[in-house]
Amino acid sequence: MCGIVARIGESDDATDELLVGLDNLEYRGYDSAGIAVQNGCDVDVRKRAGDIDDLRNALSTDSPSGSIGIGHTRWSTHGPPTDANAHPHTDCSGRIAIVHNGIIENNGELRRTLRREGHVFESDTDTEVVPHLIESAVADGAPPMEAFRTAIDRIDGSYAVAAVIGGREGVYAARNDSPLVIGSGDSTQYLASDVPAFLEFTDRVTYLEDGDVVRVTPTGFTVTDGHAQSVHRRTETVDWDPQDTGKGGYDHYMLKEINEQPIALGRSVRGRVDSLAEEVELDGFPPGTFDGIERVHLVAMGTSYHAAMYTESLLARRGVPARAFMASEYAMAPPPEENGTLVLAISQSGETADTIAAVRAARAERTTVVTNVVGSSLTRECDDTLLVRAGPEIGVAATKSFSSQVATLSVLCERIRRDVVGTPSADAESFLSALTELPDHVQQVVDGSSAEEIADSFVDSDAYFFIGRGPGHAVALEGALKFKEITYEHAEGFTAAELKHGPLALVTENTPVFSVFNGRDGDTETLGNVKEIRARGGPVVAVASEDAPDLEGDVDHVLPVPATHPDLVGVLANVQLQLVAYHAAKHRGRSIDKPRNLAKSVTV
Ligand code: F6R
Repeated sequence: MCGIVARIGESDDATDELLVGLDNLEYRGYDSAGIAVQNGCDVDVRKRAGDIDDLRNALSTDSPSGSIGIGHTRWSTHGPPTDANAHPHTDCSGRIAIVHNGIIENNGELRRTLRREGHVFESDTDTEVVPHLIESAVADGAPPMEAFRTAIDRIDGSYAVAAVIGGREGVYAARNDSPLVIGSGDSTQYLASDVPAFLEFTDRVTYLEDGDVVRVTPTGFTVTDGHAQSVHRRTETVDWDPQDTGKGGYDHYMLKEINEQPIALGRSVRGRVDSLAEEVELDGFPPGTFDGIERVHLVAMGTSYHAAMYTESLLARRGVPARAFMASEYAMAPPPEENGTLVLAISQSGETADTIAAVRAARAERTTVVTNVVGSSLTRECDDTLLVRAGPEIGVAATKSFSSQVATLSVLCERIRRDVVGTPSADAESFLSALTELPDHVQQVVDGSSAEEIADSFVDSDAYFFIGRGPGHAVALEGALKFKEITYEHAEGFTAAELKHGPLALVTENTPVFSVFNGRDGDTETLGNVKEIRARGGPVVAVASEDAPDLEGDVDHVLPVPATHPDLVGVLANVQLQLVAYHAAKHRGRSIDKPRNLAKSVTV
């Protein structure tokens, strides 16, 4: 999705810091980039289709000088990725420049009105109406802040907008349904769609809320809400390390983030479980939090939806009725109101539009978000927040966030079970103890994996299938999603039993099947399915716990994972499948961190 960054300082470093910010927003996915730097009464705009490096090269001999500016990475929605459609967009005078993330729904009608007033448009974008609306308000005599608010009041839709106006100190910005966060340094302020954009300059962040309009100057900012009343927004310190946003010597963010999973999992679990005492301690979720809850609806998209499916299995095994929903479907047709429904929203970014819509549509007694991002939109939409603490995830393909979501949700499942059923689950001690060992077990998988050889041996296959049962089904779907999104090959996940009801027709000697064994009941049946695949010539790679049945002679390869509690084998199996997808994509020379057509934060 589009990314916004602004730098408001006193030294003439705006261009350099804006380019750093754009680099740090690259992970969101983009097809063009640009900046606008204030230069006295003028605004110097540079933009182009293509990579940020193309823009950087174009600026290397003639770079705008100034202390205040805005920047943007564009992910096309209105009009193709061309230089003209790249942001920033300007008014007729070229002195008002705008960057925007989101969709302006009444853009057509506004464009017609502005054209009748004599405004001239140069792009196909919805964004371009905004600088002209500001220009129009200024021409009517409004001072800049009032003109900016007048323009914002006239647009409908979702937006995070930032503007510079020639001759006026500061940046004007507003948000509605699209993230926008201020970063505060000593004499320099930043504004961005996401914290990594400015994390190497400051860790003090203030999230804006829907309806907020803000003016940011080098020394601070003033916020007014949707009713133009002055409001205070809380400033927090993020505990992310700026190093976390670099590649740290790895070829790709994805590989770095796969390798970071032991650390991330340690953060998710540490201080939250005491396996000897069979206790869970979740800040903000004391015993009794979920008294009165009778059922859990899990809403999420993509990889987070697979974490929701995984959690559905964990809750069901703990005697708590639970159901995972694609958030987009839930939003369209939420189940009828029933007392005792807990809606658990799961989202790495906390900004996914479909998940926000599901929470808004929910008829629930309580809403809780499980997210990786402090202060993100879903933390404001929901009654309470549980952080997964995975650290910043830059690769578009979610990896460490999935493991950390499942670990965090595992702890939450125990809390819910105790409140709903009244007792700890029967195997609480071994489950909680396995959770504390999870970081070490993931480390063993990462260190000893032969995923690369296996990925290389199946490079010419027609399609790739993934099967599993219970949590293993969620892992099969996640394995297929990861594989397809970064290799661009056809990959599909199924429940193991589903194969013979149709998909088995697709199985040939050119369709490897990755089969997840949980190390528990069900593995015998999965082995039966594997035999059916092999009888049709399909090669099978078992991703199996050391506790799985003897697979000797029944599969072609094994990607082993350490023996652990059966509820957590799936997390380990998923790490093997992440590595398979990574190496398969690398072998094909794919753009692993920024797969085609995809964006990290799906905010529209
Ligand atoms: C896949 C992936 C996406 C996200 C989905 C939801 O690798 O990353 O499928 O999981 O867009 O995003 P969040 O978790 O931010 O709500």
